[in-house]
Amino acid sequence: MICDDTTTEPEVLVAEFLTDVETLRKRAREHIKMGPITEAYGADRDRVISVLNEALATELVCILRYKRHFYTATGLNAAPVAAEFLQHANEEQQHADQIALRITQLQGEPNFDPEGLATRSHAEYDASLDLLDMVREDLIAERVAIESYSEIITWLGTSDSTTRRMLEDILAVEEEHADDLLSILQDMNP
Ligand SMILES: [Fe+2]
Ligand SMILES: [Fe+2]
Repeated sequence: MICDDTTTEPEVLVAEFLTDVETLRKRAREHIKMGPITEAYGADRDRVISVLNEALATELVCILRYKRHFYTATGLNAAPVAAEFLQHANEEQQHADQIALRITQLQGEPNFDPEGLATRSHAEYDASLDLLDMVREDLIAERVAIESYSEIITWLGTSDSTTRRMLEDILAVEEEHADDLLSILQDMNP
């Protein structure tokens, strides 16, 4: 193919919202200790870290509640329900790990202190002995988590897309948990 050398390239327009490359490079060097957090980070970092620590406490309490329910579930229908409790416990553990990692990326400290854990958590612990009560309490806790994650996501808006995306993924799993529990509840108590 023969190229037409006389054709002039259209002028490439740099989007106006982008900071010029010199300034970007200078800023990246200046605050190197902040790791992935740059001047473009639009949220209140300290508040995001405290909100994430509350979410971490919520996940940790949910792990403990599901583990308690898994090990104490008894009765005729217990086996498949207990299996569901265990699966939820493992997924809450993944959420706790994701949230703790994000807190460290934001240069904060994940709070795993057992002191005050139940107070920091949005959802509650439960030690019911009846299988139906366990499922009901788990469903309530999931609904609390769904509501608080939805509010945090709205609050973040576009100010911290990485945290928001992570929480949106977690929220989707909490909705699945609530749906699983509702099905179990309906099977057990039509
Ligand atoms: Fe979770
Ligand atoms: Fe959940």
